Amino acid sequence: MSDAKWQSIARKGADLLRKNGIFLDNVERKIALVEADGAKVIGAAAFYTSSFRNGTVTYSFDLAVDERYRGKGVGRALLDGVLRIIDQASRFTTEPHVRVDVNVVNAPLLEALRRRGFVIKHLPGINEWHALKDIR
Ligand SMILES: CC(C)(COP(=O)(O)OP(=O)(O)OC[C@H]1O[C@@H](n2cnc3c(N)ncnc32)[C@H](O)[C@@H]1OP(=O)(O)O)[C@@H](O)C(=O)NCCC(=O)NCCS
Repeated sequence: MSDAKWQSIARKGADLLRKNGIFLDNVERKIALVEADGAKVIGAAAFYTSSFRNGTVTYSFDLAVDERYRGKGVGRALLDGVLRIIDQASRFTTEPHVRVDVNVVNAPLLEALRRRGFVIKHLPGINEWHALKDIR
């Protein structure tokens, strides 16, 4: 796919994330996967990496599926896809600690992450639910 075509798809994916409350600057640059129905982008996943001074590399991601297409496995395809990307990316780091940290606002998604080996933690200070998994 040409860069211009991918940029246009990534913009649509970023718009979908924004419509679902993900307000991150330049999120279109972080789009890793999209699901489409013809020319229409119906789901998108953005993927992020941070590294901390203690040597921990943390991966995280955001997902959104168009409301009209939910409950049909689109979110599952994105979730499993982004977890595969993280698994591959983590093989290219020599850092001793690699973690996935997802801030989750959606109860069914928390359960889906728990089924994939994540531990769910409530962070009372910022009142957020996080799904965490140490992968090394
Ligand atoms: C979260 C979201 C992406 C899920 O998309 P979806 O296409 O409806 O998801 P799927 O139907 O493919 O299901 C994904 C997983 O969640 C589970 N799930 C989804 N909806 C569920 C429900 N209502 N009840 C129980 N489980 C549910 C599925 O069983 C599946 O888990 P599994 O693969 O372990 O079986 C979608 O609801 C969304 O865009 N929400 C708004 C944005 C958001 O909250 N994003 C998450 C922040 S990272």
